[in-house]
Amino acid sequence: MKFFADTADTADIRDLADAGLLDGVTTNPSLIHKAGRDFLEVVAEICAIVPGKPVSAEVVALDYEGMMREAEVVRRIADNIAVKVPLTIDGLKTCKALTDDGTMVNVTLCFSANQALLAAKAGATFVSPFVGRHDDNGFDGMALISDIRLIYDNYDFATEILVASVRHPIHVLEAARIGADVMTAPPSVIRQLVKHPLTDKGIEGFLADWAKTGQKIG
Ligand code: E4P
Repeated sequence: MKFFADTADTADIRDLADAGLLDGVTTNPSLIHKAGRDFLEVVAEICAIVPGKPVSAEVVALDYEGMMREAEVVRRIADNIAVKVPLTIDGLKTCKALTDDGTMVNVTLCFSANQALLAAKAGATFVSPFVGRHDDNGFDGMALISDIRLIYDNYDFATEILVASVRHPIHVLEAARIGADVMTAPPSVIRQLVKHPLTDKGIEGFLADWAKTGQKIG
């Protein structure tokens, strides 16, 4: 499963990329607001940190013409841009036009398997079902991922399932069990994955015994 960082914080992206953990990045208007940076500038910087790996940048117009106009600006930033469009009819129309033209598209704000089916039919590169927001509203986010996996496999759709709105390590584990193609998570959740109390306890024990040997390495 590919790992994308769901952030516009370039220090975090650099740090995770240096550890070899990143296959791409996703941003959205809220994350750009949080970063407090100019949209085009920060997205260009992110694209340069993870060259060749998809970086999702979202358009904000709601009509087809407006989305296409904004997509023209966004896709000129770098070769690794995936234009992010909402799961609406105009978003799907934009998706079809852009992917026909060779641009990657991430269809976002997906909350049902039928919506995911439409994204695949429109040729989306990625579809982003939001599991955390789904759970928050009393639905089963991971059941949605299983349904989409089943449907995409039934028809050999090439659209990649990008599990989004990930809130904790169990979401990551479940996504991998189901066979999602990608998951995008905040850097804090990606860092949580490394944590295990027995790892910490093991290090502590080994260091205590090593100190007793009185030796040094090098
Ligand atoms: C996905 O691309 C979105 O940026 C993101 O996962 C939204 O997550 P949230 O529900 O934590 O805002």
